[in-house]
Amino acid sequence: MTRPRRFYIETWGCQMNELDSQRMAGQLMQQGILPTREVEEADIILLNSCSVREKAEQKVYSRLGEYRLLKRGKGDLLIGLCGCVAQQEGERALERVPDLDFVLGPARVGELQDVVARRRAGERVVATGFPESRQYDIDAVSRHGEHKGMVTIIEGCNKNCTFCIVPKTRGPERSRPMADILGEVRHLLDYGFQEIELLGQTVNHWREPGGDWDFADLLDRVARMPGLRRLRFITSYPRDFTPRMVEQVGRHANIAPYLHLPVQSGSDRVLRRMGRGYTRNEYLDLVGQLRRARTDLALSTDIIVGFPGEAEEDFAQTLELVREVRFAVVYAFKYSPRPGTAAPRLDGAIPAEIADERLQRLFALQEGIQREINVGLVGKDFEVIVTGWGKQPGTQTGRTPCHRVIHFETGPEPVSLGGTTTVRVETAFAYSLVGRRLEAPALAHS
Ligand code: SAH
Ligand code: F3S
Repeated sequence: MTRPRRFYIETWGCQMNELDSQRMAGQLMQQGILPTREVEEADIILLNSCSVREKAEQKVYSRLGEYRLLKRGKGDLLIGLCGCVAQQEGERALERVPDLDFVLGPARVGELQDVVARRRAGERVVATGFPESRQYDIDAVSRHGEHKGMVTIIEGCNKNCTFCIVPKTRGPERSRPMADILGEVRHLLDYGFQEIELLGQTVNHWREPGGDWDFADLLDRVARMPGLRRLRFITSYPRDFTPRMVEQVGRHANIAPYLHLPVQSGSDRVLRRMGRGYTRNEYLDLVGQLRRARTDLALSTDIIVGFPGEAEEDFAQTLELVREVRFAVVYAFKYSPRPGTAAPRLDGAIPAEIADERLQRLFALQEGIQREINVGLVGKDFEVIVTGWGKQPGTQTGRTPCHRVIHFETGPEPVSLGGTTTVRVETAFAYSLVGRRLEAPALAHS
């Protein structure tokens, strides 16, 4: 019997990349090529890269350097560079890495089978750019081992925040038609997913192509679909949130009381230089509206520290905003200059030591806030969607509706991946909760 062919995919970056990896895996599996977790076993290696910060980009190149050594004595091994670094580098990646077989940009993921076939026929393919019509086959997505179904509703981004490379790597914004989105969600619910996550770089900027519907209409339609237990969407752009959207978040109990709302900075001066198009007060006002609509709402955010020209008082305003909003989670990053963006031309570069020190202060502040908020959840019961096994034997891990990580003992009957159970919080840490499963009486603690 011949050994089946195997593929290995390594993924960096955002949810879109995760979904793109599921799409690439799905296409290969349709051809009878199977996944492996051992890179040495692979006949095809795909590196699905992120270029949002320089470090991520460097990492993928160093991985390429390691993996190309596997080609020795294994002539037919294919290595493909995919994702945002692929789009950014194109032809250059082939020059830089002699053993690289192909380069596949994020808008061309649906062409993987064709690119592999062309490579097998001898061509070193560079498939990048943003074609008018894109291949998207909802059946060619490997969702195996996932607890949630991700659905892209809008691709690319037109915002051009001055620090961000995404509009270059993911191209101009385009929304998928509502009918396609509803069809894919239906398919995922039929498949058994209880949680659906709608994806877009500016997810709430979705518009029906050539029509009048906006994201409020889409949210309403999706939230009403029978069998949908938990609906999430990422990433919302603060300026694109309308009162009608806020109303939908307040109206549907199955829309998760959790929202990722990147603020980037608490200083108007920095926000202006970032080209974000909103002020600190507008952001805080939106947070107020959302919390009035949904009192249990947990918010997370992204913050960049050390943006060019960020003075100590600007940073102090960011800390102040973090104190005021009390986010459930803060993802904070040191500013990293990216090619083709406007910010590197701004004056006032911040020395690395100062940016590092600010990052540490921000983390310390947020950790204290997070611990306080989480301790306030002790004794509360949550419907938990199970995401996987815990590190301790006999335990599982899941997410509360407010998207917090919670660990619990399974009892005699573990919950299936993606299934739900009710857990009472008993212990709280800054980054996770530990609780007791309520409907597992055999395990009830005394
Ligand atoms: N709208 C997108 C944003 C993608 S980038 C989304 O889906 O989240 C994710 C986050 O990375 C941004 O919110 C920003 O905080 C951070 N980021 C982007 N460019 C950066 C840069 N040049 N340096 C540091 N952080 C950056
Ligand atoms: Fe980047 Fe700003 Fe778009 S952060 S993805 S350019 S909204």
